[in-house]
Amino acid sequence: MTLLVHGNAELRLAMSGLGSNICLVPTMGALHDGHGTLIDAAKDFAGKDGCVVVSDFVNPKQFGQEEDFEKYPRNLESDLKIAHSAGAHILWAPSVEDVYPGHWPLDIESDPRFEILEGRTRPGHFVAVIEVVTRLFDIVQPNFAVFGEKDFQQLIFISEMAQKRDPQIGILAVPTKRAADGLALSSRNVYLSSDQRNVAHLIPDALKKAVQLASKGATQFEIKKTVTEMINTSDLIEIDYLEILSNDLTELKTGVVGRILIAVKLGNTRLIDNMPILLQDKNDSN
Ligand code: PAF
Repeated sequence: MTLLVHGNAELRLAMSGLGSNICLVPTMGALHDGHGTLIDAAKDFAGKDGCVVVSDFVNPKQFGQEEDFEKYPRNLESDLKIAHSAGAHILWAPSVEDVYPGHWPLDIESDPRFEILEGRTRPGHFVAVIEVVTRLFDIVQPNFAVFGEKDFQQLIFISEMAQKRDPQIGILAVPTKRAADGLALSSRNVYLSSDQRNVAHLIPDALKKAVQLASKGATQFEIKKTVTEMINTSDLIEIDYLEILSNDLTELKTGVVGRILIAVKLGNTRLIDNMPILLQDKNDSN
């Protein structure tokens, strides 16, 4: 059974009766099979003495003024069912006051990489994500925490933050769960109309093509051109950014695994995706 708790004291009490290997799966609710995969990974990793806590908190600070904070899908009843069938021990749905007691700001060190990719159109987003995850870590004090690779940029910053500030907390990265046509599962997929959903497979298709081209020695320019052409076969999808970067989000050299990262808009819905990519030297690719 999954216990649903709200306040921090209630959370502590619930945790005290469960296993001591505490694993936190931070979410903003609207749970889907992708979150189920994170919870599964947490359970496997935590083992017999595990206590898997899924936090369910739509963090107001990480949404920009023009973003979808108000309409972000919220359904605690369905979240509880999904958390339960994935085997979480606790679903913790704190209030804003639980997470931000007194509302004093945490001092989060800035980084130029906060301004690229997602940060280009979402100023302040990563400072807010790091702040909320830091606070969730402080409250839950997990042994490890699980994050999906779909939000790759977030995963990198959280891993770096944890290493600096909370090195005792292990960060477990879980590969992206995809629908049958390859679309990365996301809570925002529910916004898509059926026409938009029908063309959304172009996003993973184009990324897969990019990975193939890279293995044959294509240049970044050639890869980006092909991805752009594939996505542009639908006039319902507009590319926001398309980048090929190293795993620490700096320049990618040939012969080293990095990431191809994309953000697109389908109508008002913004979706992101990424895949590992290895750029070959033309001479090594035969
Ligand atoms: O990835 C998310 O759902 C959120 O950014 C997170 C990590 C739960 C912080 O609010």
